[in-house]
Amino acid sequence: MNILAIETSCDETAAAVVENGTSIRSNVIASQIDIHRRYGGIVPEVASRQHVLSIVPVLEEALSQAGLHLEDIDRIAVTHGPGLAGSLLVGVNFAKALAASIGLPIYGINHMEAHLYANWLAYPTAPEDNSRFPALCLIVSGGHTEMQLMHGHGSYEMIGRTRDDAAGEAFDKAARLLELGYPGGPAIQRAAAGGTGSYRLPRAWLNGTHDFSFSGLKTALYHMVRKEQLIGDAQLVANAAAGFQEAVVDVLVRKACKAASDLDVTCIMLSGGVAANKALRDRLTEESPVTVFIPPLSLCTDNAAMVAACAYFTSGLREPSAFDLDVEPALSLC
Ligand code: KG4
Ligand code: ZN
Repeated sequence: MNILAIETSCDETAAAVVENGTSIRSNVIASQIDIHRRYGGIVPEVASRQHVLSIVPVLEEALSQAGLHLEDIDRIAVTHGPGLAGSLLVGVNFAKALAASIGLPIYGINHMEAHLYANWLAYPTAPEDNSRFPALCLIVSGGHTEMQLMHGHGSYEMIGRTRDDAAGEAFDKAARLLELGYPGGPAIQRAAAGGTGSYRLPRAWLNGTHDFSFSGLKTALYHMVRKEQLIGDAQLVANAAAGFQEAVVDVLVRKACKAASDLDVTCIMLSGGVAANKALRDRLTEESPVTVFIPPLSLCTDNAAMVAACAYFTSGLREPSAFDLDVEPALSLC
């Protein structure tokens, strides 16, 4: 079973071929980071036009690296939400045209669900193996931060979510305030490595809920940058980056561990772009009361292999999409 997946929800044009759900035959990503860096963040219009330019070469490269032709593909999967409408449109229309032209079924995939299935690429199980459930999925990306209780493949219960900024968005905004560049997560991580714990920033615990809030932290950083006149002093900026990262990681780790205990899950599965953060990976692994699964760095940020894996494990549970499959920029998991 070869699944060809297309992912264009944000600023990466990606295509992958995954065999039997977990064996990556190719995973090609055309990053737009260098283009958006000039603007200090993603410009949606620029992103969708860049997808138009990249999608065909990326598909050809994915087939070539897999050593396959279109005739060897059994199913097509495509991210249809959540994400930027103009970006999603490129991938969805392209995948539909491809599926129609070669007569294959197409599966519209939820980007957040795809992120969590990166854990099945990294730690495969048979589709009928339910030993990992119930699992607590902490999905932390640039646009979303949520905890889902996963009862089985394709079956979720929303446990908590951010009430304002996503964790990745907070990293990106903090990096902008500290003039560290884009994308913010890796920039903050790099700067924080040389910082001390001299700046402590506030944490929003939202006690009694499993929800998150990061906008107050961003505002606190803004005031600190102004009051302490940090910009221009590399050591002070590093200390602020360290204080910021520590605050985000502290909340994510402690709230995930509390939810894992409260809900009596077998494991925590971390995913999404922020799962690439070393401090988050290390602390969650150290402090979790249960086994922790975290994808390798290359499968944390946006890619199409995770979309294919998601299609493989959920396609037996769902009908293929019809050709009126639409983009759903605000699609949620449950
Ligand atoms: O999942 P993703 O690639 O795209 C979305 O679906 O949003 O996540 C991108 C986010 C960005 O906000 C980026 O700053 C953040 O992931 N990120 C990180 C790290 N690498 C990427 N955040 C913290 N530490 C990192 N090392
Ligand atoms: Zn993503």
